[in-house]
Amino acid sequence: MIRIAIIGAGRIGHVHARAVDAHPAAELVLVCDPFEKNAKELSAQYGVRYCLDPQEVFDAPEVDAVIIGSPTRFHVDHILAAVKAGKKVMSEKPIALDVAEAKRCIDELGEAADNVMMGFNRRFDPSFAEIHQRIDDGEIGQLQQLIVVSRDPAAPPAEYVAGSGGIFKDMTIHDFDTVRFFLGDIAEVTAVGTNVDEAIAAQGDFDQVLVTLKSTEGRLATIVNSRSCAFGYDQRLEAFGADGMLSADNLTQTAVRKATSSQTEAKSAVMDFFLERYEDAYRIELGRFIDTADAGTPASPSVRDGYAALLLAQATADSARTGAAVKL
Ligand SMILES: NC(=O)c1ccc[n+]([C@@H]2O[C@H](COP(=O)([O-])OP(=O)(O)OC[C@H]3O[C@@H](n4cnc5c(N)ncnc54)[C@H](O)[C@@H]3O)[C@@H](O)[C@H]2O)c1
Repeated sequence: MIRIAIIGAGRIGHVHARAVDAHPAAELVLVCDPFEKNAKELSAQYGVRYCLDPQEVFDAPEVDAVIIGSPTRFHVDHILAAVKAGKKVMSEKPIALDVAEAKRCIDELGEAADNVMMGFNRRFDPSFAEIHQRIDDGEIGQLQQLIVVSRDPAAPPAEYVAGSGGIFKDMTIHDFDTVRFFLGDIAEVTAVGTNVDEAIAAQGDFDQVLVTLKSTEGRLATIVNSRSCAFGYDQRLEAFGADGMLSADNLTQTAVRKATSSQTEAKSAVMDFFLERYEDAYRIELGRFIDTADAGTPASPSVRDGYAALLLAQATADSARTGAAVKL
């Protein structure tokens, strides 16, 4: 049994708590959040102790592993302190908003960086993971092009955008990891951005972006992001290879389809947002964290993947600003 503490009792803290509670080999033992209301509410749901100061988590002998779901600006300090205290660690993305801060984290961790897992949950989505496996099995020959479509249902509040680090570090970061998962290291990025959302434009951020990436092996990828989407959370992937194509469409709330004189194949709405759409992925991600923590084997994805994705986010932001391709 692995005894787990969660730092940050917000949206993603609730997702992880549910997954921990459902895992037969894991036990949630402590919830930490400086906002007592949040700490109390989440801990009460599972009948566990709460604290307000993360240091209490690091000092707690009954905690084997820590899941970090605090706001991004605290990730590096929480990762370093938890590892120093001998805890197994999984941290939410992004590793940091600032490349130098992320580098400090990797440098201070040294070899321990291999064992710190990064919460890039989409690698564990059953459809995306299946496509990855089937490419490895040679079903579509050499992978040549990847298209990742990721559109959020609605723009976040202005105060969230202000602290988010911009669309590339906040949102596209998941897609950078997806592209790296399929194509490996990236050699060059080009990006364009624009706005349909005036509130986001007023903050100097984009709400619509297109990114093209070329891997070190010469394979291409396109990422399509929008901060809003009239039909909900649009999450699709297409892998095009020499011998064929594998693609994953949106998941819908039910499998029911309707045909009438004016429509065919009409399905119910797509899954609402990340909590629902990626519920399986978060659960499988936790299982991977526990397995690697138990075995003491390297985490995958690790904070090194988090750093690589952040470098891509920074390069892409530079490309969108200058209009030039950026080599990595
Ligand atoms: N992997 C994913 O799909 C995914 C989805 C959502 C968010 N995230 C990431 O998770 C992190 C949290 O996002 P969220 O949407 O849950 O935010 P949130 O605002 O809902 O929750 C953050 C929580 O952290 C608490 N907090 C504030 N300061 C803290 C501190 N110093 N120590 C501990 N807790 C503190 C807040 O009180 C709040 O309860 C972000 O880094 C975000 O990028 C990842």
